[in-house]
Amino acid sequence: MSEFDNGVILVTGAASGIGAAVATRLASDGAKKLILCDCNEDLLRDFAFSLPCERQMLVGDVSDERLWASADLTGLTHAVVNAGIATGGTIDSLAFADWRRVMAVNLDGAFLTLQAAMRAIAAAGRGGAIVVTASVSGIKAEPGVGAYGASKAGVLQLARIAAKEGAASRIRVNAIAPGGVETPIWRDVPEIREMIEEKGEDAVFKAMAQMATPLGRFARPEEIAEQIAFLLSDRAAFMTGACLVSDGGYSL
Ligand code: NAI
Repeated sequence: MSEFDNGVILVTGAASGIGAAVATRLASDGAKKLILCDCNEDLLRDFAFSLPCERQMLVGDVSDERLWASADLTGLTHAVVNAGIATGGTIDSLAFADWRRVMAVNLDGAFLTLQAAMRAIAAAGRGGAIVVTASVSGIKAEPGVGAYGASKAGVLQLARIAAKEGAASRIRVNAIAPGGVETPIWRDVPEIREMIEEKGEDAVFKAMAQMATPLGRFARPEEIAEQIAFLLSDRAAFMTGACLVSDGGYSL
């Protein structure tokens, strides 16, 4: 028997990066059905097509209450609360609109996703597991990540509270806090996008990793997906409210 046999699993931010890697991992591990949520419809359609299991697409913005009011999450067993965006800028320079945009997707979106997932898993009555994608930026203070870091610190605490609230319904909730991961999210930060366009992704990821990550590299999305799959699975049956830091030593 595979690890996620009969699993009905929601993944947000499923069209790219970590979300796509998690969806691929869960589909290859016997998930019965994946509910794939993303605001990038074209990317999501192309990606979903490649998966060897039943798929349901949920196209829209995770921070929009109407998306969740109309979502069919019947029979849900697991969820990966993962959609997110980034921005850069010190507090004295950050536009309030950028702060609000990041908070809306990363924190409001995580709240609404968690709420919908916890309700659906509780209604199905079989218990289940949820993983929230936080970030080491929510743990380690660095200049220039005020909005992103604060949103991820919020998400981390939300996951811990959800773990305590969900326990009575046998819902485990854990967080993962990756360091740098090789995904397109880095292009959300204008200075990094410019560097990538000039020098290429590999060179920029390598240079950034060598500045502050003891292992000297960023993670591949598949590595983080593997750890999310572990937290979702029964191998982590006694873990709830935990934060798995996976950052090559960056936060040390
Ligand atoms: P990504 O940019 O490859 O994927 C993010 C996905 O979320 C995209 O498909 C995008 O269309 C979707 N998305 C964005 N806003 C959305 C919204 N409002 N509603 C629905 N979908 C939306 O980025 P990545 O790296 O895979 O990010 C996934 C999560 O991992 C994010 O929460 C991010 O903050 C977190 N993370 C990423 C790290 C990295 O270095 N790549 C490090 C630590 C955490």
